[in-house]
Amino acid sequence: RGARAAEQDLAGRHVVVSAGGTREPLDPVRYLGNRSSGKQGYALARTAAARGARVTLVAGNTELPDPAGVDVLHIGTARQLHEAVLKAAADADAVVMAAAVADFRPAVYTTGKIKKVEGREPEPVALVRNPDILAELSAERARSGQLVVGFAAETDDVLANGRAKLARKGCDLLVVNEVGEHKAFGSAENEAVILADDGTETPVPYGPKEDLADTLWDLVAPRLAETRP
Ligand code: CTP
Ligand code: CA
Repeated sequence: RGARAAEQDLAGRHVVVSAGGTREPLDPVRYLGNRSSGKQGYALARTAAARGARVTLVAGNTELPDPAGVDVLHIGTARQLHEAVLKAAADADAVVMAAAVADFRPAVYTTGKIKKVEGREPEPVALVRNPDILAELSAERARSGQLVVGFAAETDDVLANGRAKLARKGCDLLVVNEVGEHKAFGSAENEAVILADDGTETPVPYGPKEDLADTLWDLVAPRLAETRP
């Protein structure tokens, strides 16, 4: 890792990384959340900064401290993440969506705490779709040559699902994890395959999330050099 950082191959670049899970409020005390720890996104932010990039980290819910030398924006909901990422992406060379974005949010936010009613079953919670930030970033690049990277946690036919998702989202690179008991969520280690839109596949063996992060930047840096100085 030291050797990679010494290269400073992201110097002069602005990268935006999203991390952690969103929380979709139902009432003032309850939300719909997910199990993302934010560790992979934070590792991406730290390693990019070590390689010389200016880094904007848009962070959802996590218990991690703000990394030094990184601009951190804290958000709660998917819609706040959407707004913050799009704004930061305006002058970014690369955007990496490592955040676990809630696909749905409660259709209605109840301003007072929802109470039990004696003798009555609760009302069902209606959900609506959140914006697909990765698909939007991919379809409407804020600047030409901007690189867009997604993440996907899959089960079953992991690679086939990953390839289909890469095509559907329209991003340049997709990091595909198999979800399992000791992988991805909360762990400091990860194992993945990085799929590129040119058909190449880069396997990343089980190891620290920093190693996966550096392997991703190894793929991003030359792709940026191709387009702009
Ligand atoms: N993502 C996003 N906005 C959303 C949902 C997901 O930007 N509303 C991003 C995630 O940050 C991730 C990628 O899209 O980089 C893939 O997320 P994933 O949940 O695997 O994809 P979905 O299209 O939501 O598909 P699924 O139905 O499998 O959840
Ligand atoms: Ca999803």
